[in-house]
Formats: sequence, C-alpha cells, structure tokens
Amino acid sequence: MTFNLLTEKTPKDYWSKNHIQSHRLGEEDDWRFKLGSMILQYEPKKVLEFGCNTGRNLKALEELVIQDGVGNWMDLYGIDQNEEAIRNGKKNYVFPGMIHLTIADEKYLDILIKGKSHFDVIFTVSVLDHNYRDDAEKILQKLDALASKALILVEPQHYDHTGLVIEGSMEHLSEDMAPYTFSWDYEMMLPGLEKTEHFPIGTRDWGKYYHLFKKEKE
Ligand SMILES: C[S@@+](CC[C@H](N)C(=O)[O-])C[C@H]1O[C@@H](n2cnc3c(N)ncnc32)[C@H](O)[C@@H]1O
Repeated sequence: MTFNLLTEKTPKDYWSKNHIQSHRLGEEDDWRFKLGSMILQYEPKKVLEFGCNTGRNLKALEELVIQDGVGNWMDLYGIDQNEEAIRNGKKNYVFPGMIHLTIADEKYLDILIKGKSHFDVIFTVSVLDHNYRDDAEKILQKLDALASKALILVEPQHYDHTGLVIEGSMEHLSEDMAPYTFSWDYEMMLPGLEKTEHFPIGTRDWGKYYHLFKKEKE
C-alpha cells in the first residue's frame, strides 16, 4: 500500500486521514458479531471502543442487543481520531440511538479519567498496533484505568519460532499490510492482561495475525 512519506510521517498523520471504512456490515464481518457476543457476556450497560473508525463493531453489538429482546438498552461509545470516519458513522448510525461517536484521540482519555468516567467493557480492534510502542503502552494503561469489568484487545502479533513476540513493524509480513502496523508485547505492558485465543479477522492475508487479549476485573 502506498502513502505520502512527506505528509504522513507518523502513524497519527496516516491513520487520521486514511482507511475510512464502509459503515455497512457484510459477509466478512462474522467476527465482529463473535466479539460482540463475548462483550455481552459481561452484561455491560456502558461500552467504549477506542479507535472505532465508522463504528462497525458497535453496530454489530447494537444489533445483538436488539436481537436479545425489547427493552434492552446499552450505551455504546466510540472514539476515533479520523474525522471523516466518525462523520460517516454519525450520519448512518442514527437509529435506534445506542451509538455515540466522538472525534478524539488518546488525549480525550485523560479528560475521561479526570471526570472519573467508567465503562463496563472497553475494547480495541487493530488500534494499538497503529501506534508507536510508548504511545500504545500509555493508551493501554489509560484504558485499563477506565474499564470496570473487562478490557478486551484484538490486536496482531508476530512471533519467533519459540513463541516470543517479535516487536516492531509488521509491514513486511503481508503485501497488503497497512502502513504503520506494529507488533507489540501487550502482556509485558499491562500486568493482568492475558492472550486468550487466536482471533483471525476477515479472510485477507493479514487477518491471521490477530489475537484476543483480556483483562477481567471481577
Ligand atoms: C484498522 S482501523 C480499525 C477500526 C475498527 N476498530 C474496526 O475494527 O473496524 C484503526 C482505527 O484506529 C484509529 N486509531 C489508531 N490510533 C488511534 C489513537 N491514538 N486515537 C484515536 N484513534 C486511533 C484509526 O484512526 C483507525 O480508524
């Protein structure tokens, strides 16, 4: 994949402008419902997705909540630094109104922490991998401070032959791996976080690198 090396010098430059996803859920999105079902097991009333893009994971979750029965309600919050992606989600996910999207990045997490906000479940899908290591670590710690029942990550990792995480860029691993995609050792960054399963996303070649990490609080 090509990108403008002059203007997109950091992961934030690149990811806040590119990869505006469709808001529609399609055949490739079964894994989003699988993730949604896992989140519902915690019986949350307030969920936050950090790095939601247009909000398709939240949409899948909303559909599951509606299927569950009349009278169920949940507040589903999404934050993303990509203005166009959030605008697209806001335009399309209007009804029934469980989804609340905000254009923001990790700085907004400090405001939430100061305001003593809490979310029952917080999750990311392929977000920390698009941040430099120090930033990913700080974000992870802030998300941990804000989550009361569980923190769930679906992020890619690359391993050596002994199973140790190889940290650094993953761009050489797949032809269509997006720019600024990194493998980080999340379990080293946050005590109590555990890799629980291989969690391939979609059928594209890079999808096979994803794993599910959890930190449960209760
Ligand atoms: C590969 S997309 C994944 C989108 C969504 N989680 C999904 O599963 O479809 C990564 C998203 O994370 C967002 N992101 C990455 N780092 C971020 C940060 N530090 N603050 C806010 N958003 C971030 C990007 O803007 C992008 O929309």
